[in-house]
This record gives sequence, C-alpha cells and structure tokens, in this order.
Amino acid sequence: MTARIEQGPAAAAAVTPQVFRDLLAAGFPVDPRAALRWSRNGRHHAALIDDPVHGVLFVKRTGAPLSVAGGGGLSLTKEILFHRVVASAASPFVTAHVPRFVFASKDGRHLVVQGFAGHRGLLDAVLRGDAAQLPDPTLLAGFLADLHRPPGPAWRGIDRPARPGVMTFASVSPGELLARPPSYGDFLRFVQPRMTGALRALDSRWSPSVVVHGDLSAGNILVEPDRTQSFVLVDWELAGLGDPAADIGTLAGSLLWASLIAGAAGRPPVYPAVRAWLTKLLSCYDAAAREEIDASYVLQWAGYWIVERVCFTLPPGDRLPARVRNALDVAAGLLGEG
Ligand SMILES: Nc1ncnc2c1ncn2[C@@H]1O[C@H](COP(=O)(O)OP(=O)(O)O)[C@@H](O)[C@H]1O
Ligand SMILES: [Mg+2]
Repeated sequence: MTARIEQGPAAAAAVTPQVFRDLLAAGFPVDPRAALRWSRNGRHHAALIDDPVHGVLFVKRTGAPLSVAGGGGLSLTKEILFHRVVASAASPFVTAHVPRFVFASKDGRHLVVQGFAGHRGLLDAVLRGDAAQLPDPTLLAGFLADLHRPPGPAWRGIDRPARPGVMTFASVSPGELLARPPSYGDFLRFVQPRMTGALRALDSRWSPSVVVHGDLSAGNILVEPDRTQSFVLVDWELAGLGDPAADIGTLAGSLLWASLIAGAAGRPPVYPAVRAWLTKLLSCYDAAAREEIDASYVLQWAGYWIVERVCFTLPPGDRLPARVRNALDVAAGLLGEG
C-alpha cells in the first residue's frame, strides 16, 4: 500500500509507512486509500489517519517516539480496558467527550480511537494566553461528576487504586546550604519546609472512592477553537480508582501553572479568568454530583501539581528565574489554603 503524507515534519516521512505497516501487522484493516495527516499540539506531533471507511483515526502505540505519535508509555493495557468499558457501559455524557474506540491489538501495543483533527490541547491555549478556549464549565463538571462514580461490575480491571505518588523532600539546614553554592535542588530544599507538612497531609488524606482519569492535566483535554461545548478527554492510561479532588486538582494546577507562565512570558494575563472559571467549575460539579467537594482540598492538589511540575522542569543554573519563584509561591499558597 502507499501512504500519502499530507502535512507534517519532513523527518517523519520515513516513519510514516511504518505506522501503516505496524497497524496492518497488528490486525487492523487500514484502507489502501487512507492518508496520514499530522495534528500539532505545541511541539508535539500526533499521527492521524484519514481512513475512508473509519473516518479520522488517532493511533497510539507503545513505545512510539513522542514526536511522531501519541503514546510513549510502557503499556496501553489500562487505556484499552478503559475504552472497552466506555464503549459498552459508560453514561452517554461520558461517551460524548471520550474518543470513540475503534481497535486494539491483541498484544496491547496498538490502540486506535476516533481522531480529532481540528482540536488542540487546552494547556497550549492557556499558555498562549487564550482563556476563551476553556470548555463550558457546566458540561465539563457534568462529565466529571458522571465519571467520578464508584466503579460498577463493568469496570473490573480499572477498579484498582491509581495513587498519585506524592513526592517528599529531604531537608537541608541553612548551614549546609551555606557550605556549598545553592543549586536549585538546594534552594528547593531550603524553601520547601513550608510545603513538607502540607504534602504529607495531602498524601494521607488521599482516599480512593471513584473512577478517575488519573492524569487530568489540561494537556489531555482537547478543545476545538472557539467551540467551548466541543471538548474531548484523552490519555486514559492512568485511569483507575482514585480521589476526585486529586483529579480536579490536577486540572486546576495545570491551568493555573499555564496561566502563570503565560503571564511571565508577556502573554495576555489569564490568571484571574482561570481562577474564576475554576470557581464556576467547582460549583457546577457540586450541583452535578449533588455533593459538595472540598474546594480547598482540590486547590491543595493544584498546588502539588505545580510543585511537581516545577521540580521536574527546573532549568540549569544557580538562580531560580522569577517565573519559577513566582510559581512556587503560588503553589505554597495553594497548599496552605486547606
Ligand atoms: N483522539 C485524538 N485525536 C487527535 N489528537 C489526539 C487524540 N488523542 C491524543 N491526541 C494528541 O496526541 C497527544 C498525545 O496523546 P496522549 O494520549 O495524551 O499520549 P501521551 O501518553 O503521550 O501523553 C495529545 O496530547 C494530543 O495532542
Ligand atoms: Mg497526554
């Protein structure tokens, strides 16, 4: 078969036929007229197949390089299981905002779902300072309240606790700090005593009661430009039994972090709009779930997400850039709000 490349990085050309070959070998009947196109999310290129029989498809492969397709993860077993359950048992509300399941290979290394060519990641929109792309909070809250239920019998296999590993810091005394130049690690260890107690409390409060997404950063919410009712949640590899506040807190933390970074980069200031949107989301969630979620506990998880993000992406050098210090200050504030 011949693969046509309609757009995308030239370097990916060599990989392109491989996507088709892999899928055929995995047992998925790619139509010979299918074309590969590329969806761009920040620096991330995702392979989308335009198949005359199945429509636009997204292919996720175990171990695929991130620059050419989704899925660098070790295993897609849980994600495939999730899609099978959603296809058979989930509420129409959840089904409407999750890509339609199309195919999974027997060995669990390939997953094919409905592709969204016109959608972009919400994280990128906020990083650009574009708060208008935030999804309709009533719809998103309804979706989350519907997802966040105790797992029924159909959820067997994804009903195991999916615990976020809250990190801990080793403490360093000011004396030790003076003895050597303060690298970021040292600085973090110096500033983090404010956070250690809060992180420990957060970790011990976590309680698994409902089905959660497990990695609900705004990067895993795809939005269609200027259509706030049209959003999809992708990347269900970490779905499992969890704490709803941690799920919503991940979303909140990623959005607040992105708006701080946008502000520091001179983009339109979206922090107040994001905060207001989150307040709306939480009140809609309370209404949809008919139960009040502890907003300060959700914000603690948001603070945790920011701390983790900052720690994993510290630039090299001796001094923390102002934007990083600012993000850590905000995170400490959120962690302390409980
Ligand atoms: N159904 C889809 N349609 C279009 N693009 C998608 C779809 N699913 C994922 N993507 C794009 O591919 C990227 C990576 O996919 P994701 O499932 O999040 O994998 P990873 O585990 O690598 O984060 C997403 O951030 C998004 O840009
Ligand atoms: Mg992802």
